[in-house]
Amino acid sequence: MIDSIAHRIRELITEIRQHDYNYHVLDAPTIGDSQYDQLMRELKQLELEHPDLVDPNSPTQRVGAKPDSGFEEVTHRVPMLSLDNLFDLDEFRQFVERIKDRLSQTDTPQMTAEPKLDGLALSIRYEQGHLVLATTRGDGQTGENVTQNVRTIRSIPLTLKGSHYPEVLEVRGEVIMKKADFAAMNQRLSEASEKVFVNPRNAAAGSLRQLDPSIVSTRPLSFYAYGLGEVSEPLGDTHTEVMDALKQLGIPVNPGLVTGEAEAIETAYHSLIAERDALPYEIDGMVVKVDSIALQNALGFVARAPRFASAWKFPAQEASTRLLAIDLQVGRTGAITPVARLEPIFVGGVTVSNATLHNFDEVSRLDVRPGDQVMVRRAGDVIPQIIKVIAEERPDIAKPIAIPTACPVCQSPVERADGEAVIRCSGGLICQAQRLEHLKHFVSRKAMDIDGVGERLLEILIEKEWVITPADLYRLTADSLEGLDRMGVKSAQNVIDAITTSKQTTFARFLYALGIRDVGEATARTLAATFGSLDRLIQASHEDLMEVDDVGPVVASHIRSFFEIDRHRSVIQELIDLGIQWPDGAVSALQNGPDLSGQTWVLTGTLESMTRDEASEQLRALGAKVSGSVSAKTNVLVAGPGAGSKLTKAESLGVDIIDEAALIALLSEL
Ligand code: IVH
Repeated sequence: MIDSIAHRIRELITEIRQHDYNYHVLDAPTIGDSQYDQLMRELKQLELEHPDLVDPNSPTQRVGAKPDSGFEEVTHRVPMLSLDNLFDLDEFRQFVERIKDRLSQTDTPQMTAEPKLDGLALSIRYEQGHLVLATTRGDGQTGENVTQNVRTIRSIPLTLKGSHYPEVLEVRGEVIMKKADFAAMNQRLSEASEKVFVNPRNAAAGSLRQLDPSIVSTRPLSFYAYGLGEVSEPLGDTHTEVMDALKQLGIPVNPGLVTGEAEAIETAYHSLIAERDALPYEIDGMVVKVDSIALQNALGFVARAPRFASAWKFPAQEASTRLLAIDLQVGRTGAITPVARLEPIFVGGVTVSNATLHNFDEVSRLDVRPGDQVMVRRAGDVIPQIIKVIAEERPDIAKPIAIPTACPVCQSPVERADGEAVIRCSGGLICQAQRLEHLKHFVSRKAMDIDGVGERLLEILIEKEWVITPADLYRLTADSLEGLDRMGVKSAQNVIDAITTSKQTTFARFLYALGIRDVGEATARTLAATFGSLDRLIQASHEDLMEVDDVGPVVASHIRSFFEIDRHRSVIQELIDLGIQWPDGAVSALQNGPDLSGQTWVLTGTLESMTRDEASEQLRALGAKVSGSVSAKTNVLVAGPGAGSKLTKAESLGVDIIDEAALIALLSEL
């Protein structure tokens, strides 16, 4: 009985260690948290019932007793050194040259690059495979014994994995707190009205030096190895091999190790800067090392740093400069963004002279004024941002800027939806800044459906100023298009034909094509069905509009302000004069055809005489709602050849099923 319990305990320990390894070292867990907790609970229970069977290195034995006094001092058998810094590409190249000179080599030796984790150095000593000592770096010669605290770090194995390891193995690495863990921990601390930490590095250092291991066990610390201290036998001939060997032994190693020649290291540096913000932990540079251990030993040390390795630091991400002006930029969708013009400053590795201010709420939150001295941050490839104003340096002349009331490009009034931070130009159809976006929308499939007029052609037409408003599209001739963007006679004619065909449209499509803010396809259809004619819609009051299904106060005011702009009404008139027309009113369709209002229809499979979009449009004109999936609420399923799961589902739910012929018969009643 006891034997089988002892066996089960060993089994659980092995299994839990494997899961710890999968999670912390391989970053590839194979079970979920609750299954893991279940295993831990079973182990704890068995150990509680059989205290004599508790293994001191069981995963349940991470939290030990609090030391009576502070941490004991320990002298490192092999000193813990620091690294010299490199600040730019020249310095890196000089570092490589120095290495070549010292080794009297002409070729660059194989090198490695890895992130320089921003935490604190730790040495962990294993004897006969068991963790026996963990020490901080201290002054490099003597550190503090933090073994009890380090045992609580879940990613550090208490026992090495496998059966072959050096009798003495000192692993050197960095204790860090990941960004997300840091944020969650600070949140918890602040909810408990406790002191929060300023950054992940301080949080890791403060936690590791906390005297009570039971508190440390609640701090989400991580560890990644980057080297060795004392070892009784070598783990490999190169740094890369050593890191692989440590990984095999269950130790999490510094991720992102790159091995290659100097050029590959330079590339790795730039990639790492670009990745920096997306990484789960904070890094402050890249550590470069000579890969071969023999060459490392040949190179030796100067003072307190090795000659074979250096820390290639990242450019500072923050710097202060003067804000010269706040300009207004109108985006492709009409959003008006305040943009900061800066006295040029070198930050994040580039010279920055503009920064985004996002919106006017941000301008008032920062209380930023032209003339201010500001702190600029440029992280990774992210657009530079102003993070704060240096209040003490504000000149007397710095006055706040006013929120604009008119678009700086087309002078149309600006609008701001309730609760939205963004202000927008309301002159969609006529605003030069929005021209391309608007025209793309106008020609799109669900709007005027002008096949053949794509983004590229629109860009050319806009650049040549042949097309300023959508009406200009209908003034183009095949002759003028010929030769544009390698267009031949035939394709020029095809474009003109497509434009001509689009003149026969529906009121709903036309309304949608106008690009009134928040008037999507569905709203356009409802508006078309309700008002029946453009004149009636233009004359509709705010109250009339609010009566329409799906139209609330915001949409109603967008519609009103759109039609209030004279230029919008004149472009619409031009379009109509150029021949755009639609059958008179979905209203009459509703009166003549079958009334499908309140019904939900679904289309599946292929239709031969029309596209699914066309069929949907006609069904909607009759009042039906067309949905993409079959449910108990579906009234009719139209099934063409190739119908699959929707058909099966409709059959099982007893939904009416008709084919294309029946659909055509129904629609021809119109
Ligand atoms: S190698 C002989 N590799 O940076 C010293 N150090 O400024 C070997 N650090 O004390 C250090 N990430 O705490 C090395 N990938 C990495 C590192 C790294 C962070 C820290 C380490 C060291 C300090 C030196």
